[in-house]
Amino acid sequence: MIHTRLHSNKQSAAQAVAREIADLIKIRSKSGKPTVLGLATGSTPLPLYAELIRLHREEGLSFRSVLTFNLDEYEGLGADHPQSYRFFMEANLFRHLDIPAANIRIPDGLAKDAARHCADYEAALRDAGGLDLQILGIGRNGHIGFNEPPSAIDSRTRRITLDALTRRDNAVFFGDSTQIPQGALTMGVATILEARRVELLAFGEGKAEIVARALNETPSAVCPATWLQHHPACTFHLDAAAARDL
Ligand code: F6R
Repeated sequence: MIHTRLHSNKQSAAQAVAREIADLIKIRSKSGKPTVLGLATGSTPLPLYAELIRLHREEGLSFRSVLTFNLDEYEGLGADHPQSYRFFMEANLFRHLDIPAANIRIPDGLAKDAARHCADYEAALRDAGGLDLQILGIGRNGHIGFNEPPSAIDSRTRRITLDALTRRDNAVFFGDSTQIPQGALTMGVATILEARRVELLAFGEGKAEIVARALNETPSAVCPATWLQHHPACTFHLDAAAARDL
C-alpha cells in the first residue's frame, strides 16, 4: 500500500524527507553501519538536496558513512557533460557534502558494454546490502527512474529507449531537443522495489493526473509507478497541486 503525505509546499516536503534521511544516517552510523541511499535527478529533488546540504553545513550532518546509487544516466553522456546526471549530482549535492567519492555510484552513460555494466551495478548494490531508502520522482507517463512504459515488475538495471514524452519533458534542459539522447541506463522496477523504504516526491499540477493513476490504477507495466502499490513502505510526498485529483 502507498501512503500519501500532503505538505503545504515543496520546501516543507523537502524538510520532512531530509529529516527522515538524517535520522536514518544517525541511527545507522551509531551502530557502525553505512546508510545506502538511492537517489534521483530532475527538478523535483532539488529542494531536498538543498535541505540536505543545509543540514550538513548548519547542523553538522555527516555523509561519510553514506553510500549512494543513482537511478539512471543518459546514454552517451559523460561526467563532464552539463546535462549528464553525474554532472547534475556533483553540482547539486555531492560537491557540497563530505561524502567520499568512492561511495558514489551512478550508471556510466559511456559504458562500452551496457549489459555488463548494468549487471555489475546490480551486483554492487547487492554487495552494499541493498538500498535502505530510495528517493523517487515520477514522470508524466508513470516512469520511475527511466523505467518507461511498458516496464515489468521484475525488470532490472538495463539500457532503455526513452519515451517521446520523456524526451519532450526533458528538452528544456538541453536547449535543443535534438540533443537529447535516445537511450538511458536505469535501475529496474525490481531493483527499486527491493529498497527497504521508498519516498516519492511529486509537486505541481503537472503531476496531478499521473499521481492519481499511480495510486488508483491496477498495477501494470503500462504505468510503472503503479508497481509501487506492492511495496510495503512507500510514501508519496505531495503538495496540494499534485494531490488535486485524489
Ligand atoms: C530522474 C528520474 C526520473 C525523474 C522524473 C521526474 O533521475 O529517475 O524518473 O524523477 O522524470 O522528473 P522531474 O523531477 O524533473 O519532474
